[in-house]
Amino acid sequence: MKKNKGCLKNIAVFASGRGSNFAAIAKAVKAKKISASLALLVCDNEKAPVIRKAAAFKVPVVLVKRENFATREEFEQKIGLYLRQYQIDLIALAGFMRILSPYLVGLYRNRIINIHPALLPAFKGGHAIADAFNYGVQITGVTVHFVDEQMDHGPIIAQEAVIVRPADTLVSLEARIHAVEHRLYPQVIQRIVTGKGANPAV
Ligand code: GRF
Repeated sequence: MKKNKGCLKNIAVFASGRGSNFAAIAKAVKAKKISASLALLVCDNEKAPVIRKAAAFKVPVVLVKRENFATREEFEQKIGLYLRQYQIDLIALAGFMRILSPYLVGLYRNRIINIHPALLPAFKGGHAIADAFNYGVQITGVTVHFVDEQMDHGPIIAQEAVIVRPADTLVSLEARIHAVEHRLYPQVIQRIVTGKGANPAV
């Protein structure tokens, strides 16, 4: 745990897959561009590459599989116990492929953020970059927002536009969007943990 302007700030990242945003956050913490500790990775998929990334950054991992619990609330209660054990103050969702229930959202109200690879409220869901590209939009982007009980929904903290170029393929567009994510998410987290420009409840 690290001290930060008199408050303790321990971050947990929740992720289910590749973990490039996890790595960007971990690098920013290591470089002291985020004045907090990356205290925990919560993962629901034992095959996710993010687990290896957490090991490389020496970040503790808890694997909590939804199928081991009868209800979503029981699944989240287990996660809640880990969050308490690791004294987590802020949750950053980064490709966590589950909608949180009112239980966890209520427990961490205004202290859960998410990154989404489109300009919300456009193109919600798990295929946002492809959906925007296939729709033919000329501008898409990245959104960081507080999480509520709905999917890809809640007060917007930051957005950055990405222009779709005429020569773009889905792959080239994805690369530029991810590059923006990896810069924007650590910046927003730093704003939140230092109490600048984010929800005062955090
Ligand atoms: C990112 O594009 C993020 O915006 C979305 O899921 C993707 C996760 O990618 N919510 P990664 O696992 O961080 O590489």
